[in-house]
Amino acid sequence: MRNFRKSSVPLSLFFCFFLYESSIAADKIRRGESLRDGPNHSPLVSPQKTFELGFFSPGSSTFRYLGIWYGNIEDKAVVWVANRATPILDKSGVLTISDNGNLVLLDGRNITVWSSNIESSNNNNNRIVTIHDSGNFVLSEIDTQRVIWESFNHPTDTFLPQMRVRVNSQTGDNLAFVSWKSENDPSPGNYTLGIDPTGAPEIVLWERNKTRKWRSGQWNSAIFTGIQNMSLLTNYLYGFKLSSPPDETGSVYFTYVPSDPSTLLRFKVLYNGTEEELRWNETLKKWTKFQSEPDTECDKYNRCGRFGICDMKGSNGICSCIKGYEPVSVGNWSRGCRRRTPLKCERNTSVEAVRGEDEFFTLKSVKLPDFETPEHNLVDPEDCKERCLNNCSCSAYSLVSGIGCMIWNQDLVDIQQFEAGGSSLHIRLADSEVGGKKKTKIAVIVAGVVGVVVLLGIFALLLWRFKRKKDVLGTFCCKNTDTSDDVVVNMTKSKETATAFSGSVDIMIEGKAVNTSELPVFCMKVIVAATKDFAKENELGRGGFGPVYKGVLEDGQEIAVKRLSGKSGQGVDEFKNEIILIAKLQHRNLVRLLGCCFEGEEKMLIYEYMPNKSLDFFLFDETKQALIDWKLRFAIIEGIARGLLYLHRDSRLRIIHRDLKVSNVLLDAEMNPKISDFGMARIFGGNQNEANTVRVVGTYGYMSPEYAMEGLFSVKSDVYSFGVLLLEIISGKRNTSLRSSEHGSLIGYAWYLYTHGRSEELVDPKIRITCNKREALRCIHVAMLCVQDSAAERPNMAAVLLMLESDTATLPVPKQPTFTSTRRNSIDVNFALDSSQQYIVSSNEITNTVVLGR
Ligand SMILES: *[C@@H]1O[C@H](CO)[C@@H](O)[C@H](O)[C@H]1NC(C)=O
Ligand SMILES: *[C@@H]1O[C@H](CO)[C@@H](O)[C@H](O)[C@H]1NC(C)=O
Ligand SMILES: *[C@@H]1O[C@H](CO)[C@@H](O)[C@H](O)[C@H]1NC(C)=O
Ligand SMILES: *[C@@H]1O[C@H](CO)[C@@H](O)[C@H](O)[C@H]1NC(C)=O
Ligand SMILES: *[C@@H]1O[C@H](CO)[C@@H](O)[C@H](O)[C@H]1NC(C)=O
Ligand SMILES: *[C@@H]1O[C@H](CO)[C@@H](O)[C@H](O)[C@H]1NC(C)=O
Ligand SMILES: *[C@@H]1O[C@H](CO)[C@@H](O)[C@H](O)[C@H]1NC(C)=O
Ligand SMILES: *[C@@H]1O[C@H](CO)[C@@H](O)[C@H](O)[C@H]1NC(C)=O
Ligand SMILES: *[C@@H]1O[C@H](CO)[C@@H](O)[C@H](O)[C@H]1NC(C)=O
Repeated sequence: MRNFRKSSVPLSLFFCFFLYESSIAADKIRRGESLRDGPNHSPLVSPQKTFELGFFSPGSSTFRYLGIWYGNIEDKAVVWVANRATPILDKSGVLTISDNGNLVLLDGRNITVWSSNIESSNNNNNRIVTIHDSGNFVLSEIDTQRVIWESFNHPTDTFLPQMRVRVNSQTGDNLAFVSWKSENDPSPGNYTLGIDPTGAPEIVLWERNKTRKWRSGQWNSAIFTGIQNMSLLTNYLYGFKLSSPPDETGSVYFTYVPSDPSTLLRFKVLYNGTEEELRWNETLKKWTKFQSEPDTECDKYNRCGRFGICDMKGSNGICSCIKGYEPVSVGNWSRGCRRRTPLKCERNTSVEAVRGEDEFFTLKSVKLPDFETPEHNLVDPEDCKERCLNNCSCSAYSLVSGIGCMIWNQDLVDIQQFEAGGSSLHIRLADSEVGGKKKTKIAVIVAGVVGVVVLLGIFALLLWRFKRKKDVLGTFCCKNTDTSDDVVVNMTKSKETATAFSGSVDIMIEGKAVNTSELPVFCMKVIVAATKDFAKENELGRGGFGPVYKGVLEDGQEIAVKRLSGKSGQGVDEFKNEIILIAKLQHRNLVRLLGCCFEGEEKMLIYEYMPNKSLDFFLFDETKQALIDWKLRFAIIEGIARGLLYLHRDSRLRIIHRDLKVSNVLLDAEMNPKISDFGMARIFGGNQNEANTVRVVGTYGYMSPEYAMEGLFSVKSDVYSFGVLLLEIISGKRNTSLRSSEHGSLIGYAWYLYTHGRSEELVDPKIRITCNKREALRCIHVAMLCVQDSAAERPNMAAVLLMLESDTATLPVPKQPTFTSTRRNSIDVNFALDSSQQYIVSSNEITNTVVLGR
């Protein structure tokens, strides 16, 4: 017995040692352990053996480097190198965690050749370094698991899935990939790949940090617009994503996750200045090149010089000048092109005859030029054009959904003609370049006559404006004078509001002082007169926040007055500031707020009047349904999407509507859709971005699952409502009209038709024959994506707009919406009527008030 025990001791020690050794060969190094190069060198291996970390010699070199390469495939491509510029000359390298907690690489003379270079702390003994299956090599604290350093934040020449390519648009700091010097030398080479954050972000390949060699084109939140074959389809394959909004340090990052996580995929900057996307093909046992940039001659940066355009299919060589420009030096494209006829603002009027306004010529399907200025607040084509015309240095503009208005205030460089796809660029030219010479002759003859007429017109306009200004002031202020003191006098009638309106309170919006007197304040008297004391026959409808009345001001202007009912939960000051902010939002698809009126308990908002009422007036009325044909319906859908995108992203307030529905879409005289009641949720519900709110404002049938059940709202809850709205517009049926049918709701019915390949039957029978089938089916597909249960899977409005407008896009496959059809009843049970036409929902121990629509 004793003997046996004695002999077993060395044996178990041996096992311990063996296990200990093999645990080193696993994936970690702890404090006091090390990874040694040498004849018996065995690298660290990640848990699934996807990646290994150890010492290697590249190509024909005999130098030793510490690096990371693929584990269980034949071609062990190196994806990261630690000591890229400081090779170890022999196999004496040792990787360990130093006394100060740094990861260090020592050579045979115990000299540090590479270090993670992080500051030491008092918790240095508690560190561990691990190679992960993502290829990330991470130094962290054992107990807190806090990451101290990671190789993904210090990339070399390879972009791996899940890596975050950071860029700081304020400091310009850019985490970039740097090529090797040669196949055998990993030291930093001549080429850098990174993100250029000036303008709309894009990927740029630089030579020696200075010269641009290639760029991806602007990111439109789904694809890089300058990569020819990057359609929506490949976008979903690629899974590229830009984080937004910027984090607290002002930086954003690009990342990508392949749709099939088992695909081995990498982007690499080669030493010769080519960027390649490589995928592992298990059948061929080879890395196959999926894409490489610059690919064609035209992909080379600025191949045809300033104002030149590169077309691989060009009839006289690949280079030419864009319309209205001529080569600076014939035969030498590096000198580019120059404008043939000066713009109106450039012309010397004392020499040349006065000619017409500059015009725009549209280049279709192009890679947009570099160095634009994005104007995210402008999505209206006319505003964008106007902005360009107002600056003499503007040479072109473009509108891209997902980016907005882009303006070029300098030379146009790196334009490429695509066969298909691409974007439209509107270049600014003198009128004679676009309209031809004939027009100008007539213009000269007509000029005299027109001049007189125009002068008269301007005079009349000035007179009218002057008069109108007086009139308007008259209606705002009960005393009919125009000093701001009178406003104060009027307002002091009510003690409560006196402080809120004492003169003009200046508030700050984005660092700019905004004068609150910009927002017209209407007197109660004026409103009472305009609406005939809120006469019943003037009532236009009743929304979630109170009745709406039509009114006519003294000068004949028609207005809509929303009489807000209930408590806002805010003080009058906050309330007013909120309204001023919202009054500043302007978009052709949003109803204009003209002013407000407060007196005592009364709070009213004054809007422009919409002669064609709301969409439900047409959509759900048997006699009027046929009036809105498919073309109009599609235009309405696009308009709503644009308005919503503006609220979500392009306006500075990031407004979540929270009550989007057919009756909140108003129609102007030309049947343009205008979203109303936006900002109401903000006025009433505070300004949380994505939050659990105590008060749920919304309309049954339009509420997303997470919102109705948990009170969670985000822009994606609006996307859900938009999806419902889409189905209603297409079908001409209310979402709730199918509640007692076997499908439970319009969504359920649409899903049934969609999965049975019968989506066409959803289209309103009144317009089915004449509708554009492709468009309608695409709209239904987009709607199905919008009403998915999981908010994360719903597209954002930028993507929705892109999908609606792109003819060629391949859309992702939607998941079945289960919420409306199966779980609805459980909510119904919890609804209870409250005195003020509001329903109380109890869930998660909070009481949510749900304002139901008509
Ligand atoms: C390097 O350091 C180790 C441990 O401190 C020591 O055993 C070894 O002798 C040193 N080697 C040289 C060449 O100084
Ligand atoms: C990098 O630039 C240097 C200096 O112009 C040149 O000598 C070298 O050949 C370039 N290397 C590569 C790989 O292009
Ligand atoms: C490029 O910039 C990086 C970081 O600023 C620098 O380390 C590197 O030496 C530069 N490369 C060249 C070729 O100038
Ligand atoms: C884009 O796709 C078309 C058709 O698949 C192909 O002919 C063309 O070469 C591709 N262009 C690029 C730049 O990859
Ligand atoms: C760079 O090297 C790759 C791979 O060897 C090759 O396919 C590519 O054509 C080269 N590019 C240039 C510009 O030489
Ligand atoms: C691998 O290559 C073969 C032969 O070219 C091809 O048929 C197959 O589709 C490829 N597999 C993948 C996953 O790309
Ligand atoms: C083309 O123009 C560039 C820039 O002006 C000049 O450096 C180059 O020598 C010219 N090339 C030829 C062939 O004239
Ligand atoms: C316009 O032309 C006249 C006559 O040639 C010249 O005197 C004047 O300086 C020019 N003005 C400008 C702004 O170039
Ligand atoms: C016109 O463009 C130039 C160049 O970008 C810019 O410096 C200037 O501020 C712009 N002017 C106006 C009025 O926007």
